[in-house]
Amino acid sequence: MIVLDKENRVFTLHTQNTTYQMKADRHNILLHTYYGPRISGGDLSYLIQYADRGFSPNPNEVGDERDYSLDTLPQEYSSCGVGDFRIPSIEFEPEDGSRLADLRYADYTLYRGKYALEGLPAFWGGEEWETLVIRMKDTAAKMSVELYYGVLEERDLITRAVRVINQGTETVRLQRCASLCLDFQRDDLDFITFDGCHTMERCPSRAPLRPGIQSVNSLRGTSSHHHNPFVILCERSANEDFGLCYGAMLVYSGNFQAAAERTQLENNRLVLGIDPYNFCFTLAPGEAFTAPEAALVCSPGGFGQMSRQFHRALREHLIRDPYEGRRRPVLMNNWEATYFDFTADKLVDIARGAQGLGIELFVMDDGWFGSRDTDLSGLGDWSVNLSKLPGGLEALVPRIQALGMGFGLWIEPEMVSENSQLYREHPDWALGVPGRPQARGRSQLVLDFSRREVRDYIYEAMRKILDGAGITYIKWDMNRSLSDVWSAALPANRQGEVYHRYVLGVYDILERLRRDYPELLIESCSGGGGRFDAGMLYYTPQIWCSDNTDAVDRLRIQYGTSFCYPVSAMGAHVSVSPNEQNGRVTSMETRGTVAMSGTFGYEMDLGRCTREEREIIKRQTAFFKEHYDLIQKGDYYRLSDPFTAPFTAWEQVSPDRREALVSLVTGPTQAAAPFRRLRLKGLDPNRTYQVNGEGAYPGDVLMEAGWPLPMPWGDHQSTQLYLSAL
Ligand code: DGJ
Repeated sequence: MIVLDKENRVFTLHTQNTTYQMKADRHNILLHTYYGPRISGGDLSYLIQYADRGFSPNPNEVGDERDYSLDTLPQEYSSCGVGDFRIPSIEFEPEDGSRLADLRYADYTLYRGKYALEGLPAFWGGEEWETLVIRMKDTAAKMSVELYYGVLEERDLITRAVRVINQGTETVRLQRCASLCLDFQRDDLDFITFDGCHTMERCPSRAPLRPGIQSVNSLRGTSSHHHNPFVILCERSANEDFGLCYGAMLVYSGNFQAAAERTQLENNRLVLGIDPYNFCFTLAPGEAFTAPEAALVCSPGGFGQMSRQFHRALREHLIRDPYEGRRRPVLMNNWEATYFDFTADKLVDIARGAQGLGIELFVMDDGWFGSRDTDLSGLGDWSVNLSKLPGGLEALVPRIQALGMGFGLWIEPEMVSENSQLYREHPDWALGVPGRPQARGRSQLVLDFSRREVRDYIYEAMRKILDGAGITYIKWDMNRSLSDVWSAALPANRQGEVYHRYVLGVYDILERLRRDYPELLIESCSGGGGRFDAGMLYYTPQIWCSDNTDAVDRLRIQYGTSFCYPVSAMGAHVSVSPNEQNGRVTSMETRGTVAMSGTFGYEMDLGRCTREEREIIKRQTAFFKEHYDLIQKGDYYRLSDPFTAPFTAWEQVSPDRREALVSLVTGPTQAAAPFRRLRLKGLDPNRTYQVNGEGAYPGDVLMEAGWPLPMPWGDHQSTQLYLSAL
């Protein structure tokens, strides 16, 4: 609910459990007055303290009112170069070369429903949303800045976006345009980021904010394996179940920066948006730039509550799932079974091995096209390699379908190999500066997706494949970071637009696919989890979580990922043991338990499994299908931290709390192990539950007294407890 106090120009955004407030003051500065647990409201500007601080200047119109400084006041969207020396939200340069932004409140619009952003992913929905648009103006530069707020009350979600319009008669160069600025009048915050590398993504890292700026970012052109565009600021005492925390995500898949600053007044500012490195948009008179959407959840009840609110909001109001209301297929992928070394007969053999095990979709991974026998060549030539697949997809797909499985295909549309027909014909279609040989990544170059003709060509190539042959799923891969970012289609003074235009180009093709193939399920991937963000989730309901398929490493990766993203978004497969990334041996049960808290599938030659393993697989796929809604859409509880606890446990609870599934994987084995209990969460204290079909255990007992952990016998053993209310 958005409450306006027109007289005092106070804007209060209430969600179910939180309140957010801002106020336009007597100098038309938009002050941020409060964000935290829900309170009744009123004008909270009495909280703001005014005091003269040395070297904090005063706006011209306040004269000698020395205690009024932009440098000390909490700003809703920070200015630049006019007296606030903390992180700016915006920077622009008119033709006079100045670099100042002095934004003052102008007016507002309020309506029911959710704003949309042209060409960009954004949360969506109907009457359950309210939108507030606040217009700010820099009168001297004739720039208008619209701040968008979407309020989804039930999910405690506040979205933000920014649109900058050049209303003058001169060209303006926009050099920074953050999506979110948040000033916290609190002095005790920790900053949590989700960091890692290829094959070890999104590991939480937590540290108190110290004076100065701490930031994570990506300059890789994608959101990256290395840092995620999702961060948390929280009270020092906050944990899974208690304490105040603020989650902030960017709905964007390119370069980003999340910067938190602890100020001279021991307050904190968070700024989130596109990284300013090599970002510069030229706005001619009348032109506008829209910054990607950001979304906030404040949780007064710890990280668990925050995550559950994000999960629901993402599932119900961001991800567009062609299987909405239906179960997505259990798949098998041939990558770790064959790598590049396959023929049609071999694939059919593998599919035959999967028959009868509950597998519903067969995915042919990399290596089926052009001259693609290794990763040194072929990207860009999207026609079937007929020596590997005689008769093409038209011959192969029916053979797979005859085994009772749908057919899915891997593709990497954004890339080109130098050894390809496409590159020989269009070398300038790759990003790169003439006369400066480009850096290669995985021996490949990046196509300039900022160019319409490049996208059109690739899209037509994709259409030819998709129109022919009963394909119901694609895995859209992207296997390198962007370098040599320069486009032959733009003049020198517009090269700062290429990074962002590239991302818009990716979104453009994904949107076309959605329009033309509404039933197609797309799983995105960037060497696993290199582009795991809400921007991609808008187009692709699932993302391959990591190239690391080891169940034990995955416990950590999926744990970190779960802070923001739902189970239904995390691509996860069972692969062979010993694992091909780290050599670890794990049981089929453990691998299944971990993978089924993701989208679930297998990535191995199932025909080579023992009879006993095949029985286990049959049970796993049947169990997953039976409890699909609980696993994929249940409320998610982290029961332990795999980075510190001797075991990893998590739980999904159905919204009506009549069912729950607890999954647990022990750590390295130990003789004379201590006796341990696991306290469950989220159950109905007044109901009684059976556990795996037996007994009668009251919910309050299971939550307060717990359940005894199994004694370890061997490393990394798994247990699943299915609870159903009597
Ligand atoms: C990287 C992906 O993450 C893998 O799953 C696989 O598809 C390879 N690329 C294929 O090249």
